[in-house]
Amino acid sequence: MMRMVNGLIDWVDARLPVVNTYKKHMSEYYAPKNFNFWYYFGVLSMVVLINQLLTGIWLTMFYSPSDGFGSVEYIMRDVQWGWLIRYMHAVGASAFFAVVYLHMFRGLLYGSYKPPRELVWIFGMLIYVALMAEGFLGYVLPWGNMSYWGAQVIISLAGAIPFDILPFIDAKDAKEIGEALTTWVRGDYLLSTATVNKFFALHVVAIPLVLVALVFLHILALHEVGSNNPDGVEIKQNKDENGIPRDGIPFHPYYTVKDLPGVIVFLMIFAVVIFFFPTGGGYLIEKPNFVAANPLKTPDHIAPVWYYGPYYAMLRATTIEWFGMSAKSWGLIAMGGGIVVLFLLPWLDRHPVKSIRYKGWLSKTLLLIFALDFLMLGFLGTQPASGLYKTLAQIGTVYYFLFFFLALPLAHRFEKSKAVPERVTGGH
Ligand code: HEM
Repeated sequence: MMRMVNGLIDWVDARLPVVNTYKKHMSEYYAPKNFNFWYYFGVLSMVVLINQLLTGIWLTMFYSPSDGFGSVEYIMRDVQWGWLIRYMHAVGASAFFAVVYLHMFRGLLYGSYKPPRELVWIFGMLIYVALMAEGFLGYVLPWGNMSYWGAQVIISLAGAIPFDILPFIDAKDAKEIGEALTTWVRGDYLLSTATVNKFFALHVVAIPLVLVALVFLHILALHEVGSNNPDGVEIKQNKDENGIPRDGIPFHPYYTVKDLPGVIVFLMIFAVVIFFFPTGGGYLIEKPNFVAANPLKTPDHIAPVWYYGPYYAMLRATTIEWFGMSAKSWGLIAMGGGIVVLFLLPWLDRHPVKSIRYKGWLSKTLLLIFALDFLMLGFLGTQPASGLYKTLAQIGTVYYFLFFFLALPLAHRFEKSKAVPERVTGGH
């Protein structure tokens, strides 16, 4: 029997490099032995991605873009276990962003975007942008009132771009370009079933394909250069006589086993939210989305879901009108710039030390404030932009950019770093 199985494996392997691929990426991929808590969020992003793909396929079997709201009601009330699949997918969207934000923050903590991992980071950022698009398109599909008005706001931003960002174009022409652009995005003169149909195609086919391809490239790029670790020490610089990093352990079985409890704990938390707080008090599924889309009734307060909060807060916080451009134009620039600047991170961070463990107190404090600032902006993005909230959003936006353009390039000049060890610490 074993001879037959081995024979089959050999036969396939002579035609497709299965065994080699398994070795390269699992049993002979040497990962640093000192991964900590922060290293769970890569595998968790993968778990949530699979959850979204599977529950998404099942939802697609019952959802109909020609009756978005009605078909979601049907899934919730009549389809067997439909409510569970729908909540797994809707809560899964928030879980996706939660784990991805923590995964990105790990990158900031340990300088994982620094050479030689710039491409790993760039692919990660492309995943993040694709994820934002995917979340938005998906949010429109249930065709609740917040779907409708959220789409209205975001699509009108697309229309504002030529008018607000290109002041050198004749205002009338720019307006016309903007209108043509919004009509093209909507696929109609107003938001309609045609829009939902188009968003459905993008949400279930186009963007998931892009996402899966990007995740594949992300992992491929990572395995080419090897993982960073909480010490920021390159384990490939210290190899034994067989060419194996002295501080590395095979990914399988060591990390497959170590990841398992993390996945189980995550699934337990995920289940508690799905079964007991699926709407998260309006933060995961907003209240107006339980009412059908109504072009005649604007929700009291149009707010994005929490994960877009920081960038939405930047959009609304901006009041400057420099160089003859409107505050709205600058808001759009702040929002877009807030994302673009993350792409540039590998080149903005000039600190000679990778891991926060060995940086000085100044870098540590500035990073802590950045994390709190991001959380604050996230909250403010979901609240009405007036009074104190607006001022806080302005301070938060300024700090966000100062962190990237001043703190990261210059902090090392004003602090004393600790000596980085030759070998990784811990993880025995
Ligand atoms: C679908 C989303 C994503 C998936 C499935 C994913 C998956 C993974 C996995 C499995 C790893 C190796 C394990 C680990 O280091 O935690 C990893 C590493 C990494 N990811 Fe992601 N990732 C995603 C999104 C992102 C995003 C949005 C960024 C940043 C913009 C990012 C940046 C990184 C970096 C820098 C590393 C190397 C970390 C290190 O070696 O210290 N990833 N990713």
